[in-house]
Amino acid sequence: MTKYESRYGVDARIDPDASVDSPDRKFPDIDYEAKIFDDQEKYFSEEYRKQEWDRLWTKIWHIAGRVSDLDKAGDYFTYELGAESFIVTRTGDGDIKAYYNVCHHRGNRLVHDNYGNVKSFVCSFHSWTWNLDGSLKKITDRETFDEDLVCDNPALTEVRCDLWGGFIFISMNDDVEPLIDFLGELPAVLQNYNMDDMILVSDVETDWPVNWKTVLDAFMEGYHAHITHPELLTMIDDFHFQHDVFSNGHSRMHIPMGLVSPRKSDRGKLSDEMREIIESIGMDASQYEGKASDIRADIPAAKRKWAKKYGNDYGHFTDSQLSDDWNVNIFPNITFNMHPEAVLVMRFRPHATDPERCLYDFWVLARKVSDPNYYLPAYMGVPKEADLSGNAPRSERTYGKWGEVSFGPVVDQDAATVPFVQKGLRSRAFKGARYSQQEMRLTHFYIEYDRYLKGE
Ligand code: FES
Ligand SMILES: [Fe+2]
Repeated sequence: MTKYESRYGVDARIDPDASVDSPDRKFPDIDYEAKIFDDQEKYFSEEYRKQEWDRLWTKIWHIAGRVSDLDKAGDYFTYELGAESFIVTRTGDGDIKAYYNVCHHRGNRLVHDNYGNVKSFVCSFHSWTWNLDGSLKKITDRETFDEDLVCDNPALTEVRCDLWGGFIFISMNDDVEPLIDFLGELPAVLQNYNMDDMILVSDVETDWPVNWKTVLDAFMEGYHAHITHPELLTMIDDFHFQHDVFSNGHSRMHIPMGLVSPRKSDRGKLSDEMREIIESIGMDASQYEGKASDIRADIPAAKRKWAKKYGNDYGHFTDSQLSDDWNVNIFPNITFNMHPEAVLVMRFRPHATDPERCLYDFWVLARKVSDPNYYLPAYMGVPKEADLSGNAPRSERTYGKWGEVSFGPVVDQDAATVPFVQKGLRSRAFKGARYSQQEMRLTHFYIEYDRYLKGE
């Protein structure tokens, strides 16, 4: 399909003159054939849930957690995915390893809590014990076992583990491609953000009454902003996103901020939300003489100055990275909303048994700043008094159910919508999803998803 022309006469590209190695550049679109995605059972059927487990989740790389949670030898955390649980730990040699969280004696979960520090992993049932490197340390009363049953000295079953951006990725697939190949274009495109160096300042895990893809879909397009998030229209241009699709199902959309939606007739007045944004980066909203629709052009210089005041050099970021929100999908289940000062990470995990439930994880990673007067712009949802120095203990994880925890107005609006979508997907009258070019990331995602489910 030919690319539509903006009815507002605006070029949606970040920078039409971007060089071939600039992260701002427009990547080539893929000319997917127009089709209705009429396999909506994938959002609720048990058969799809099983197929996803066998052909997607057990085959691919996924993010288990952050390297910063494994500071010293013996630190560990557990990571649950579907019916599996994994222990991710730092060994005495300083390596990071990941194991299935299961005891080889009678199948007890070896570790029951979410994180901690141990010298060895001791099973709570009959005290079989493993070293941090996964080797067997002790079988209690070994002489009471027929030696044939234990002569293999079973080590913990290891899974593949690799690092990028301060994240620990694991894969249950021994033949999985190297992580760096799987990530494709992303490391180069996102290099400026240097997420290795960011600290975890918010960590929330919630249980939602929808399929993991029903909620993920809502975070992969901006087409719904004008009706679901009307207050955003005074601070973003919701119609002119640059959408980029990458290899292996990954994608990006850039959300231009510091603009007023062309859908709005009044484009001059600064909204309270816009005032708050520019005040938080050291601009004086009361002295601002331009129109609200012009602020984006002024943000990069202001943000560089603001960062410098607090000891950070933002010189290497492009103007768009400073003013805009780069929304990235690491296929299948991670999204980033990226700013130089902080990244919001969302992770969508399938429920162990119910295809109409999922786990929605919400993390904020922040760049370190020790000045107590510094705070993050309101769109990150981090309290102004949060300690961002990197010296405070990591933020405690909080848990909740859908509807009990607030993620701020925008995500709460999405949360209110998606259970209705989940219900509607089951209707006999619903004949499948039709995606616009504003939803091209969904087309790209589901083409890749289908490849996995067909076992290609
Ligand atoms: S189940 Fe772990 S020691 Fe028995
Ligand atoms: Fe939304």
